[in-house]
Amino acid sequence: MKAEGLRRIVYPGTFDPVTNGHLDVVGRALQLFDEVVLAIAGDSTKKPLFSLEERKQLAEESLAEFNGRVRVTVFRGLLVDYVRSQGANAILRGLRAVSDFEFEFQMALMNRKLADSIETIFLMPRDTYTYLSSSIIKEIARLGGDTSAFVPPGVQTALHEKFHGGKP
Ligand code: COA
Repeated sequence: MKAEGLRRIVYPGTFDPVTNGHLDVVGRALQLFDEVVLAIAGDSTKKPLFSLEERKQLAEESLAEFNGRVRVTVFRGLLVDYVRSQGANAILRGLRAVSDFEFEFQMALMNRKLADSIETIFLMPRDTYTYLSSSIIKEIARLGGDTSAFVPPGVQTALHEKFHGGKP
């Protein structure tokens, strides 16, 4: 048991924006852990569409359905240091397809090298979400496609506002 007796896991990523696939992974993790800390990487080398503040707000709105069992935060620096600072010893990652494996394997082993007491746990999203990625959703939204099956309603509105101005 960790600090305050809570079993807590940190879910890191860029979340640009959060998708139904991420929500699915969070829901599964909450069957195993008391709390999920969704940790948005502030030092990401990706060029995000949404600002950190926007990503945090969209994630908070979208995760409200989990009744306070998910905390949305922003982190900088090494992930393993952040995990420790949260009183956790587990990292959550979604594994969608074989193509994710090599990168995830490298990250998990590097994180283990950096902090041997922290474990990475992989959960697979529902099969209908295995082909989702934030990039593909942004492309669909940019080209005027319907993203309602892939993202929460607030994210759909935000995507529409970014690319086309106004509500969908
Ligand atoms: N449903 C839908 N999409 C999903 C998904 C799911 N369940 N799981 C992952 N994805 C998508 C993301 O949307 C993202 O799509 P995109 O590339 O089109 O934007 C892609 O899969 C992978 O992104 P993400 O899961 O956000 O990971 P990342 O590669 O952007 O983030 C960090 C990696 C932030 C976790 C990693 O760089 C890190 O830990 N950085 C901190 C510094 C550090 O410690 N570095 C050493 C690590 S060894």
